Amino acid sequence: MKHDISPAWPAGVPSKDLAMSRDYDETIADHYRKVAEQEGLSPTSTMADEIVRAMETDAITRFLDAAHAAKTGASSGTFRIADIGCGNGYTLGVLAQRNPEREFTGIEFSNELRALAETRVREDKLANVAIRPGDVRDPNFADNEHFDAAYCQRVLINLMDAADQRHALDNMIAKVKPGGALLFIEAFSSALNNLNEAREEFDLEPIPAAHHNLYLEDDFFTHPLLAPFESAAWSVPPNLLSTHYYVSRVLAPVLRRPKPFKRNSHLAKFLSEALPPAIGDYSQLRIFAFRKSDEG
Ligand SMILES: C[S@@+](CC[C@H](N)C(=O)[O-])C[C@H]1O[C@@H](n2cnc3c(N)ncnc32)[C@H](O)[C@@H]1O
Repeated sequence: MKHDISPAWPAGVPSKDLAMSRDYDETIADHYRKVAEQEGLSPTSTMADEIVRAMETDAITRFLDAAHAAKTGASSGTFRIADIGCGNGYTLGVLAQRNPEREFTGIEFSNELRALAETRVREDKLANVAIRPGDVRDPNFADNEHFDAAYCQRVLINLMDAADQRHALDNMIAKVKPGGALLFIEAFSSALNNLNEAREEFDLEPIPAAHHNLYLEDDFFTHPLLAPFESAAWSVPPNLLSTHYYVSRVLAPVLRRPKPFKRNSHLAKFLSEALPPAIGDYSQLRIFAFRKSDEG
């Protein structure tokens, strides 16, 4: 399998000279450079909350199984999957080891995170994974490859311009074959507002959106080429993470008073496991699965 390692963000070339450059590029590049340095190959890279990480991985696994089952019904051949904005390749590693017969391509813009993903592929001998540079704002990202399924975890919110986010969505959809499947885990302003209203009831300070993110509007995924992904094997609702966010960002901080916020506390883990998921709309992260139109 080809491993293209030419950099998307060439060393020594200021980002403003690149075709896709924007004034927010340095903010994003700096953020992920630090993440790469501090977290290395850890699962906590880009996601410090262990429960959110586990639930995201589980949802993506279920989604790909359902998408694979849908494709097997229609035609055969290798099932090809894109992880768009694959970071250090943690999710790719889990999925590729679970399903060695599927082919995975990780696309990553940050040089430092992409280098880590390449290290993972080499060290774990993941023969079914290729890592490629790419900028989702570029309609030609991933060259001429087309995938049966694609997923991305918290990637569109890194484009801190609403028009860039919409173009990137078009570009991602274009990389999936007609009838293929797409999963997005992205953050939404309205859900963060709900969470902060719930916190306010207990005089907790509002949680701001991360400095390197632009959260999406509720209708962001309304698109002529996207229909809800429907399958007996897929039942994950957009608000899957809501209970966990309410528990870990409202209940646990209140119950722990006057102690400060503690990430991944036993209390939050216990309550999140004890309660049913997907209650309310308190998680800024929502999960959306789509089927691309056959005409696209
Ligand atoms: C929140 S991180 C998630 C990374 C990985 N999927 C994970 O779960 O750890 C978002 C990723 O999107 C990447 N990214 C940001 N802007 C991008 C762009 N324009 N094109 C491609 N990837 C981008 C970042 O470098 C980062 O790796």
